[in-house]
Amino acid sequence: MNKVIITLFALAAVACAPKPSENTWTAEEKALIEASDSTMRVLLVTDQKDSIVLRTACDTLTKEMLTSEEYRLLAEKMLATVQSPEQDGVGIAAPQVGISRRVIAVMRYDKEGRPFEVYPNAKITAVRGEKELGPEGCLSIPGRRGDVLRYRDIDITYSTPQGDTTESVQGYSAIIFQHECDHLDGVLYTDYL
Ligand code: NI
Repeated sequence: MNKVIITLFALAAVACAPKPSENTWTAEEKALIEASDSTMRVLLVTDQKDSIVLRTACDTLTKEMLTSEEYRLLAEKMLATVQSPEQDGVGIAAPQVGISRRVIAVMRYDKEGRPFEVYPNAKITAVRGEKELGPEGCLSIPGRRGDVLRYRDIDITYSTPQGDTTESVQGYSAIIFQHECDHLDGVLYTDYL
């Protein structure tokens, strides 16, 4: 009996221990982020290996990771990738460049000059009003468009080096936030069609 209890405790301890890769950049992530290119390859659903990454739920970034050189580089390269002439997107999520971490870049249509901004550990924390249909596409699903129901008025919460912060977002930017946050959970807009 005691042996069974000890075994159960041991199993529970193993189950609760985080994977070593979760709290720090892995060697693979570092290699991908630190590669010499200024932009990163965008993963496609048409490639089987890419598809697995696109369907994987992402891990949260720790405070230490947020202040790391890898994070700074990843943010810079995600911005360069989504704005590159080949991509010309309005948003991108880290899994689309092969990094299973909760980071997104969003074009802020609601701000002067429509700047692109990067949000680590982004999540939708409130929605208001009814969902409305609107056309969407995705850099990882070329040559396809589809109408998706999304909220037009949301709150997003994300991390800063000083702590978490919440912001209200309306209109097209709110749609982009929902599309990109879905990517962090392995969800693609085509799942709704
Ligand atoms: Ni997308």
